[in-house]
Amino acid sequence: MPDTLTIIDNRTGERYEVPISYGTYPEYGASIRTSDLRQIKTSPEDFGLLGYDPAFMNTASCRSAITHIDGERGILRYRGYAIDELAERSNFLEVAYLVLYGELPDEDQLTAWVREITFHTYVHESIKKFTEGFHYDAHPMGMLVSTVAALSTFYPEARDIATPEVRQKQIVRLIAKMPTVAAFAYRHSKGLPYVYPDNELSYTGNFLSMMFRMAEPKYTPHPVLEKALDVLFILHADHEQNCSANAMRSVGSSHTDPYVSVAAAAAALYGPLHGGANEQVLRMLREIGTKERIPEFVKRAKAGEFRLMGFGHRVYKNYDPRARILKRMADDVLEVTGKSPLLELAMELERIALEDDYFVSRKLYPNVDFYSGIIYQAMGFPVDLFPVLFAIPRTAGWLAQWREMLLDPEQKIARPRQIYIGDGRRGYVPIDQRGVSD
Ligand code: ACO
Repeated sequence: MPDTLTIIDNRTGERYEVPISYGTYPEYGASIRTSDLRQIKTSPEDFGLLGYDPAFMNTASCRSAITHIDGERGILRYRGYAIDELAERSNFLEVAYLVLYGELPDEDQLTAWVREITFHTYVHESIKKFTEGFHYDAHPMGMLVSTVAALSTFYPEARDIATPEVRQKQIVRLIAKMPTVAAFAYRHSKGLPYVYPDNELSYTGNFLSMMFRMAEPKYTPHPVLEKALDVLFILHADHEQNCSANAMRSVGSSHTDPYVSVAAAAAALYGPLHGGANEQVLRMLREIGTKERIPEFVKRAKAGEFRLMGFGHRVYKNYDPRARILKRMADDVLEVTGKSPLLELAMELERIALEDDYFVSRKLYPNVDFYSGIIYQAMGFPVDLFPVLFAIPRTAGWLAQWREMLLDPEQKIARPRQIYIGDGRRGYVPIDQRGVSD
């Protein structure tokens, strides 16, 4: 069986044969190059056939070796490793290294990597002045996006994206400084003094310290919460070509420095259709209020009045593997922070929905956002900060996507085509004749 596709152009009767190529899994990712369609013309002057695919519903923009998702089977793997195994056995910085460089670090590599990240957590003092310029009620995600972009002005050498050592330095700086910038944004919004990084703590322990430390001389994170945040960070490290990863690649393809590219990716994440759903889950659960009201609420969702937030996914048509991990972890966290009526509501809502043919037949299962908001809230994070908590670990994924894009000889500046549907050539209309209709 030849790996080709035969196309017959019924306009001309011409026959074309285009090659089909594959990724790692033959049943997932068989593709043709849409540039092969350009030879299909009705005349030599014809531009050639284009692929039309609004929202990239069926277009691969790259070949990538970072993350594999099989939405039908509920599989998520980074560099071939199953997400649940990584969540159970690794820590976030180890996973960030894996996502970025393709292999789990050995002991020496991990020690060096952790040291590098830990020693770059401080930000220039001027960043504090920059943060202070924001209004007291500025959204922390707006602050994060602007401040990360501003980091670009502190490191002008970062524009040299072609030199591996320079690239590597910015990768370290970005992963190291994102939690600091995020925590400063939070402390500013609360009117609290900034807490400088504590190099003796882990990545997530230090973040908790910068967020929540008050008068104590040394902040000691609760090990269960430190671990829970670490797992949440692992689960959010990458998710292949979603809206923000695509923004990172697209902006980075014009060879901008990685700070402004990460700012663009974070801006894409800011939107409620991408990084904001877990906040909506909390609002929904609060609105439901009691278990008795769930059936009525589900009925209204089925009638199309609104959607059950945290349910359904464009890619997963099965239980989101990240939601499964978080559901288990929620119990551990709540044992420390105290029971949450919202978790009990969420579990009951899940039970009722998954017994209902409406949700089963449409393959609507809980997604990562269904439980993450409940955990974040129990840990004391304000709702506004949820997308920021997403952006911190996703920075590793964005940088991995960026690096892969730069090293891919096939990639160029991203420049989609369009299908023009406006007017043809028109004669110029002098101003005194405009707006006059017969
Ligand atoms: N509640 C009720 N019905 C739903 C839901 C939901 N959450 N999600 C989808 N449906 C229904 C749709 O009404 C549609 O029904 P129909 O066939 O009778 O018209 C069917 O399921 C298919 O829905 P689509 O909109 O075609 O699915 P799509 O893949 O485009 O949407 C999305 C995926 C946006 C995630 C959707 O499921 C949704 O809006 N969910 C709620 C928001 C949410 O939780 N988003 C977080 C996603 S995870 C993340 O971004 C990190």
